[in-house]
Amino acid sequence: MPGSIVVGTQWGDEGKGRVVDIVAKECAHVVRYQGGHNAGHTLVVDNEVFKLQLVPSGILYDHVVPIIGNGVVVDPYVLLNEIETLTAKGVDCQRLMLSPQAHLVLPYHQILDELAESQLGDNKLDTTKRGIGPAYADKASRVGIRVEDLLDPTHLRARLHSALAERNVILRDIHGHKGVDPDQLAEELIQDIAPRVAPYIGDTVGHLHEALHAGQRVLFEGAQATFLDLDHGTYPFVTSSNPVAGYALVGAGIGPGAIDQVIGIAKAYLTRVGAGPFVTELDDAVGEHLVDVGQEYGTNTGRRRRVGWFDAVMARQAVRLNACTEIALTKLDVLDELETIKVCVAYDVEGERYEYLPHLRRMHDKAVPVYAEFPGWQQDLSEATDRKDLPREAIEYISFLERQMGVPIRFVCVGPGREQYLRFAA
Ligand code: IMP
Repeated sequence: MPGSIVVGTQWGDEGKGRVVDIVAKECAHVVRYQGGHNAGHTLVVDNEVFKLQLVPSGILYDHVVPIIGNGVVVDPYVLLNEIETLTAKGVDCQRLMLSPQAHLVLPYHQILDELAESQLGDNKLDTTKRGIGPAYADKASRVGIRVEDLLDPTHLRARLHSALAERNVILRDIHGHKGVDPDQLAEELIQDIAPRVAPYIGDTVGHLHEALHAGQRVLFEGAQATFLDLDHGTYPFVTSSNPVAGYALVGAGIGPGAIDQVIGIAKAYLTRVGAGPFVTELDDAVGEHLVDVGQEYGTNTGRRRRVGWFDAVMARQAVRLNACTEIALTKLDVLDELETIKVCVAYDVEGERYEYLPHLRRMHDKAVPVYAEFPGWQQDLSEATDRKDLPREAIEYISFLERQMGVPIRFVCVGPGREQYLRFAA
């Protein structure tokens, strides 16, 4: 069946929204399957900048049905705000479908996220403070509030009372916060939020199955990335959901046979926001240059991203974990001015060489990068539209990364504009 997954192979901010935008052109449906408004996609269309956090990137194509799957956690205030902004810019949002089983991120989740971070002090995870972790924790603890609860005021009130019974004790006794009044929040949700969210709620699972059976291509859009995955990432410096491709099945309600393409997104270098290990991190002038040229500041929180050389060890591991069938390489143009480019081809952990991530996290923490070095192309790539427009050094860099990852690179992005990319045929 015709299902494609787009998944980040690094620590997020690889430019997934960009690639989704390219691939969505050929799809009938674009589905978000995990995460929440901790994600941020920037799209540039006809010089207009669109910043999306919850609404799938495919919304900008009239022929695409954008779907927010059950695996996503949805802040309804943010969702409605985003819909309003898009509508004001002339984008038709009526096609948007929201799973009734998606969980809500509510104001107390955000408060708990912020307070938990300040409680951790130096050990903080540097979360986006959007309430994502507490919302997923409530889901697993079975005290979460789901989108469909908005449709039943009595049930919603009761669910909020039971969720807040314990959360308020934590807020008051541990954090000295005054707590959240369940009745007041219920009234606000019933009066202001529910009537505006209700029109978007639909049978996303049924809709997707019918589409897939009819042979329509469905694109599953991962948020965050492989190494922020709750299981496979650099725990505890991870998000609270599973961005890996396998979770697209759970977070949208489909089976493995529906997928025939997994596109891994890799930036031509590496970035990370927030705390956690980073083997190829650069704290020098080259790092500053990459931050500057690549504008490496969070779409969402404005935080400066940490930067480093491309890490082929992580990339190989990501290809394994997601069963990537191909790679889209983004931001290659950011390397244009560099004299020398490095790629980490292996880790040295206490004298032993690793080509995949060491299976124990503490070994990862001790890893020393083994680099291969390349001459830079020192040429502007932003106008390239075809492989023949690329300098020999850039082609060598791309081919080297392909050999390192063991899968073909099918897209190369050379600038932020919608058309600034090259596509290599299969
Ligand atoms: P949370 O997802 O807000 O709980 O944050 C957990 C970790 O994931 C933090 O290090 C965040 O910086 C990181 N993170 C969450 N969402 C994104 C994203 O979309 N891009 C990059 N990093 C992210």
